[in-house]
Amino acid sequence: MTTTIDDNSVMVSALYDLDKVSKTYIFGGTKVYALKEATLRIGSGEVVSIEGPSGSGKSTLLLLLGVLDNPSAGTIAFDGKNLTSARDAELTKMRRETIGYVFQQFNLIPTLSARDNVGIAMVPHHVSKAERDSRSTALLEQVGLGHRLDHLPSSLSGGEQQRVAIARALANKPRVIIADEPTGNLDSKSGGEIISLLTGLQKTDGVTIVIATHDEDISRHAYRKIRMKDGEIVDDVVLQSEQPNGNHGDKNA
Ligand SMILES: Nc1ncnc2c1ncn2[C@@H]1O[C@H](COP(=O)(O)OP(=O)(O)OP(=O)(O)O)[C@@H](O)[C@H]1O
Ligand SMILES: [Mg+2]
Repeated sequence: MTTTIDDNSVMVSALYDLDKVSKTYIFGGTKVYALKEATLRIGSGEVVSIEGPSGSGKSTLLLLLGVLDNPSAGTIAFDGKNLTSARDAELTKMRRETIGYVFQQFNLIPTLSARDNVGIAMVPHHVSKAERDSRSTALLEQVGLGHRLDHLPSSLSGGEQQRVAIARALANKPRVIIADEPTGNLDSKSGGEIISLLTGLQKTDGVTIVIATHDEDISRHAYRKIRMKDGEIVDDVVLQSEQPNGNHGDKNA
């Protein structure tokens, strides 16, 4: 595990450690930076919002943190392990066990009930049907949907569908939740409730949460706010003095 010493000489551990990470595309014969030399540390148990205008690189950064894409340059370490040199099998295991994903589109299976949409995430882990059902029920109760277990996605509101997606993201007890514009398809009230639910998971489950949004009103719920512009991190501030794990969220810490 990577450790460092912050301003108060407290040892803090970095869950993510990004060193000059870039993602480039060739467009019309020219190299375009979707992400440019991002150097960033995220501590275990931090709640981080990533904001910035459309095209600023938020999704690109989240795809890299979610191990769903590879950087063009630079290194990403997770829990002290360099992901750039990790084998495919290890990365697949991480995607299944360590990281939970929540997207703007809820990506639920339309023909499955809320409970089965959560339970299906446990199938690769050979969890029995009875165990899947009981864990899915508990997770749906946790996100406030204990009364909607047998509903199909089409008979749930947008906010309820996103709650199912969050329960599904929690199915395998992840260490990190990566949420890309999770409120993008919701009205502001449901959106606020989803953000409260997500940020609350840090306290109840000790999960590290990274949320991309361009809704500044919503990102004020997060402890740490990273602002992006044109593929670069231009600001990184901690909004509340108390980080859950005592980490002050300083990217240079
Ligand atoms: N596969 C790709 N090929 C070429 N360019 C890409 C690709 N993916 C992203 N880009 C470019 O990278 C830049 C950053 O895109 P990204 O999706 O990360 O932005 P974003 O901040 O998530 O925007 P939004 O708020 O609209 O979701 C954009 O200019 C985009 O066009
Ligand atoms: Mg995006």
